[in-house]
Amino acid sequence: MKDIDSLASMYVCDSCCCGNTEKGHKEVPVNKLKIAWKKEKLDKKVNLIISNCLGYCSLHNVTMLKNGSKKTWIGKLNSREHFEAVITWAHSVAEFGNKAKLPNILVPHLFLPSDI
Ligand code: FES
Repeated sequence: MKDIDSLASMYVCDSCCCGNTEKGHKEVPVNKLKIAWKKEKLDKKVNLIISNCLGYCSLHNVTMLKNGSKKTWIGKLNSREHFEAVITWAHSVAEFGNKAKLPNILVPHLFLPSDI
């Protein structure tokens, strides 16, 4: 088994803007994600981190995958299907590492921090 520090990590922001329904943003399904990670045994291969602000609030809701030195950012996640696709993506990361395929539904949500 890999050391926990060498696992890929999925940072799902649920903070001041992301998931803040009082600001009119969509809820982040934190419990659903945690249950999926545990039930589908993703926790042994990809850390799920429900994070504080990742710094790109204008793109609420933001998720970032860190795998080694590679970071992949997605934003504007606003539907159940988007978060289900995050779970699918985690399965792909668990199996294929940096060669994992981002689900098609999430491709339009990719962003580069340098473009913000
Ligand atoms: S609250 Fe999520 S990026 Fe700031």
